Amino acid sequence: MSQKISAEPKTISNLLKPFALSLRWKVALSFSGLLLIVVALLFFAFMRYERIFLSLESEKRAQSLANNIVINARDPLLSQDELRLSSLIESVTQNNEVQYAYLIDHKGYILYHSEPDKTGKVLANGIPEPARGIIQAAVPIAVENIKIGTAVVGLGVHHIDQAMMETAKGLILPLGLGAGLGILGIFLLAGIHVKRIKRLEEAIRALGSGDLLVQVEDNSLDEVGKLTRHFNEMVGQLHSARQQNLRNFKETVSALAVAIEAKDAYTRGHCDRVAQISVAIGDRLEMDEKLCEELELAAILHDVGKIGIEAGIIGKASSLTDEEFAEMKRHPDIGARILSPLSTYREVTLFVRHHHENYDGSGYPDGLKGDEIPQAARIIHLVDAFDAMTSNRPYRKALSKEEALLRIKQERGKQFDPMVVDMLLQLEKDGRIEAIFEEVKQSERQ
Ligand SMILES: [Fe+2]
Repeated sequence: MSQKISAEPKTISNLLKPFALSLRWKVALSFSGLLLIVVALLFFAFMRYERIFLSLESEKRAQSLANNIVINARDPLLSQDELRLSSLIESVTQNNEVQYAYLIDHKGYILYHSEPDKTGKVLANGIPEPARGIIQAAVPIAVENIKIGTAVVGLGVHHIDQAMMETAKGLILPLGLGAGLGILGIFLLAGIHVKRIKRLEEAIRALGSGDLLVQVEDNSLDEVGKLTRHFNEMVGQLHSARQQNLRNFKETVSALAVAIEAKDAYTRGHCDRVAQISVAIGDRLEMDEKLCEELELAAILHDVGKIGIEAGIIGKASSLTDEEFAEMKRHPDIGARILSPLSTYREVTLFVRHHHENYDGSGYPDGLKGDEIPQAARIIHLVDAFDAMTSNRPYRKALSKEEALLRIKQERGKQFDPMVVDMLLQLEKDGRIEAIFEEVKQSERQ
């Protein structure tokens, strides 16, 4: 069957996907933009302040020059001394900033103007407004409170533009450096905060993969800290709920195991012992928590398929005929089919199906060998055999532990996985097997 590969629809969000920014970049760019706006506003405010300051200074200077004319022009005005008046105006215009200076009498007649063609004219409409780029000061000349004229000085403000240009040049480097460092700092800080969100994201992924022990450390009091604490609480509650579910499930499974054992009185306590010894081996092999749970369930339920085998065959006191043995060999497959609806513990079905596979490939139902057999199934196979050997069966008396272990050693690498055999021998040496046998006996008495 050919697989249809459909292209993504051309929506705006799909088209923008290659340009999507990470949260770190979004935060960094937003704050950097704000920083640049603040820097630009500060720059323009400073320049505006400087222009006002320089303009006021120029006004003061124009006023001062006009006052200077006023002080020295009274006498020549009264004596109509044109020579002194002209030299007075000329001396003021020596200043480079001064664009023009002139004197008028009380009727508006220009007595002397620094621009010669204007001398002698009459300002009928009063003193004209200064042209753009000129600051003008007009100071009246009075004698005993009687106005006899006005001194006017026009000062060019081009020097203000030059001064502003110099200031701007001087500010650009430090402000640029400051803004650059600020942006770098924002980027680094954004990284620190986003890292916390990333840690949380990774934990959510781990939770999604089934890790209910995941926790994230974040003691800060901000929103991310609160979110992290809520996440940790939620994971804790999920873990508790899962543990409770597991306990309920195990109780149900144990009830099922009791039903299996009821069919075969000789196997009383067998499932419990196989489960406990199998888990002890799983622990020694450092299996993860989920796998250990599956191993335990599979060990309890490994013979559930016997429900589908005739009671006469299971409880038969003599050896089985070939036909009966062939029928008996169906129980791993029947068990796997019974357990197949267990969606949460898919592996359990597999472990039950293969709990009679031999390490050398001579077992059943699929004749798997070595690592082809799931490790949990290899464990259950060995422990099941060990417990069967040390229990009374309809067709024979129980073997002693030593005898059973001797037979198991003989089958090391043949029927059984050598590593699992070594683990079982270690458990026996440590007294763990004896303790488990005792525990199961105690629980049966209760
Ligand atoms: Fe079995």
